[in-house]
Amino acid sequence: MEATVKIFRFNPETDQKPHFETYTMPVESTDRVLDLLEYIKGNFDGTLSFRRSCAHGICGSDAMRINGRNYLACKALVKDVGLKIKVEPVLGLKVIKDLIVDMDPFFEHFRSVMPYFVNDEPPPAKERLQTIEERERFDDTTKCILCACCTTSCPSFWANQEYLGPAAMVNAHRFIFDSRDRAAAERLRILNDQFGVFRCHTIFNCTIACPREIEITQAIGELKNAISTGALE
Ligand code: FES
Repeated sequence: MEATVKIFRFNPETDQKPHFETYTMPVESTDRVLDLLEYIKGNFDGTLSFRRSCAHGICGSDAMRINGRNYLACKALVKDVGLKIKVEPVLGLKVIKDLIVDMDPFFEHFRSVMPYFVNDEPPPAKERLQTIEERERFDDTTKCILCACCTTSCPSFWANQEYLGPAAMVNAHRFIFDSRDRAAAERLRILNDQFGVFRCHTIFNCTIACPREIEITQAIGELKNAISTGALE
């Protein structure tokens, strides 16, 4: 089989504007798009730039737009995306080079929701215990790998990058509903901002894009509900 891969290219040092380049290569149906990009880099153009590290869907570094949808390139198989493949950088973040975007605004939003455990009470002699039900309450949102597939597939984020975006909210959810944490009310105040949870219009793009299958829209709904009912004040 042969695949045609059309890739967004932009080198700010030499290009006035972005363009696409197309490459043709032999593929197997089980090849990943990341394999194809590595092949192109190794055989056609060593200057092709993209992020990747683990190649196993864990590090979250190779989020990109493949045939118009956000994927991790290491989890997108040829048999799923087809033999005509268009690869672009994710939307809503500035392109640094080719498929690499500036992730700083994304991580600033992540940091702004206090994504860490807060509890100043004296620690118990052993660990801080939780029931199975208490641990399950936030299990889904512990799975986030900060790839940005969700935030950069969100039309509300495309419209205004001040919007915290789904990934920051997923990580706020992970601590807000942790029975051991004591900063839920403070985080909810941050999320109740004009650029917070109520900018979510329940479009579900984030849930569809998440490579970890986190029920993101549901998690955001739980945050909206917590703010509206004052349950965690
Ligand atoms: S390279 Fe690590 S998630 Fe794809």
